[in-house]
Amino acid sequence: MENKKYPVDSAFSVADRRLKSTPSIIAIDGPAASGKSTLGRRLADAFGYLFFDTGVMYRAVTWMALQRGLDVYDETAVTALAESIQIDVLPASKSDGRVCDVIVEGRDITWAARRPEVDRNVSIVAAYRDVRRAMTEQQRRIGLRGNVVMVGRDIGTVVLPEADLKIYLDASAEERARRRFDEIIARGGQADYDEILSKVRARDRIDSTRAVAPLRPAEDAVILDSDKMTADEVFAKVKALCDG
Ligand code: CDP
Ligand code: CDP
Repeated sequence: MENKKYPVDSAFSVADRRLKSTPSIIAIDGPAASGKSTLGRRLADAFGYLFFDTGVMYRAVTWMALQRGLDVYDETAVTALAESIQIDVLPASKSDGRVCDVIVEGRDITWAARRPEVDRNVSIVAAYRDVRRAMTEQQRRIGLRGNVVMVGRDIGTVVLPEADLKIYLDASAEERARRRFDEIIARGGQADYDEILSKVRARDRIDSTRAVAPLRPAEDAVILDSDKMTADEVFAKVKALCDG
């Protein structure tokens, strides 16, 4: 197990934290496969809120850049693309395991945006200042309407610093790689654990060391280490926080 970068439950003790009313804006940040979407979806269902996974926007830009044959290291070209494409995130139109539909220029790219080539390149694209500016503006507009659970890397720190509840969900890289591995096997696919682990680590490294909006907990975030917790336990703990 790697050393944890942050003291667990440090910013606020989970047990001590009490909210006066159900939070209207809930921000969930953390590294890949820490369980953000799983938790976010369940909270959104429980409260009847909009669930918004901001990662799909960076994935959509990356997918489109690859589709158009752009060099992902060409910041000017990728930024121009991010500033011009229309990304729509709509309620799921099919029951094939998707949480929502991701539509770019009329094409349903929900699953395409999860392909390995997007995984490999998305953190490069997401590190560009003006790509982030374009995405953040759209995310903030949606988030400020309230009754929303927004999930990403910089929601509590940059996108919605006024969020009523900020969760930073962590887990070791080994555990997170195991979760992704299990997901692929459960879908009947083939996977190499060591390869997944090294990709998870590479993405963590870029996401947490970039100059703009790096992955880190907000000062007032509740930090949860989910290594030894089931998804049900994480949900129960956060739901209890929301219920005050
Ligand atoms: O689902 P998973 O955690 O693997 O990734 P994701 O949430 O779909 O995010 C994909 C990538 O987008 C991340 O590795 C980050 O590079 C970037 N991202 C970001 O920079 N800021 C966000 N608010 C959300 C995602
Ligand atoms: O959104 P993010 O990339 O942070 O993670 P996710 O897509 O929610 O995937 C997490 C995976 O780990 C899912 O297969 C969950 O069932 C599983 N899991 C979890 O979410 N929370 C735990 N405490 C343990 C496992």
